[in-house]
Amino acid sequence: MMANFFLLLGLLAFTCSLSLAFEPSPLQDFCIADTMSSASLNGRVCKDPKLAQAEDFFPRLHLVGNTSNSVGSKVTPVNVAQLPGLNTLGISIVRIDYAPWGINAPHTHPRATEILTVLEGTLYVGFVTSNPETRLISKILQKGDVFVFPIGLVHFQRNVGYGNAIAISSLSSQNPGVITIANAVFGSNQHIASEVLMKSFQVEKNIVDRLQTIF
Ligand SMILES: *[C@@H]1O[C@H](CO)[C@@H](O)[C@H](O)[C@H]1NC(C)=O
Repeated sequence: MMANFFLLLGLLAFTCSLSLAFEPSPLQDFCIADTMSSASLNGRVCKDPKLAQAEDFFPRLHLVGNTSNSVGSKVTPVNVAQLPGLNTLGISIVRIDYAPWGINAPHTHPRATEILTVLEGTLYVGFVTSNPETRLISKILQKGDVFVFPIGLVHFQRNVGYGNAIAISSLSSQNPGVITIANAVFGSNQHIASEVLMKSFQVEKNIVDRLQTIF
């Protein structure tokens, strides 16, 4: 009897922790972020639903991103910061433009799985599984192909075609977050001490200094 009780308790705790690891289900049709409110909570305050307009649910991603930068790609995000209607819905979208040989550098989304569709061009994409396996799972994608980057895993894309490439990615959070590995490690505001990075990457101080200057 007692054993059953503890089994049930364990099961309950397990399912609760599972559901808490993701964005909660909405408790109403929608909850358009009130961009005027300064109240701070897990998500955004809803504006009066009677004031809902099509524009709250209507992002535009027709503009080509400017890829004239060091990596040759541009991510145009549409998350709750750009589109208030996404608040509490657990979803968002980005457009990614790539110049020839442009890359979307290795990064991770702490709060979302990503599903990418190639609209134009050819992309080499991949992600790396977590320790201790750290296995690269990669693929060359053509127009119309779709690829999934599981939540939290480090992933990247590179344009390996002849012209520009375009992708659309959907993400399972209104606010997926992004951690670009090189920027986080070598470009943090207040640098990580060189000794930490030298030993972590097994390189000399001049290399760490150089990377810290770049990022
Ligand atoms: C694209 O970005 C570059 C570098 O920031 C800038 O010089 C250029 O004017 C931009 N092009 C357009 C069309 O905005």
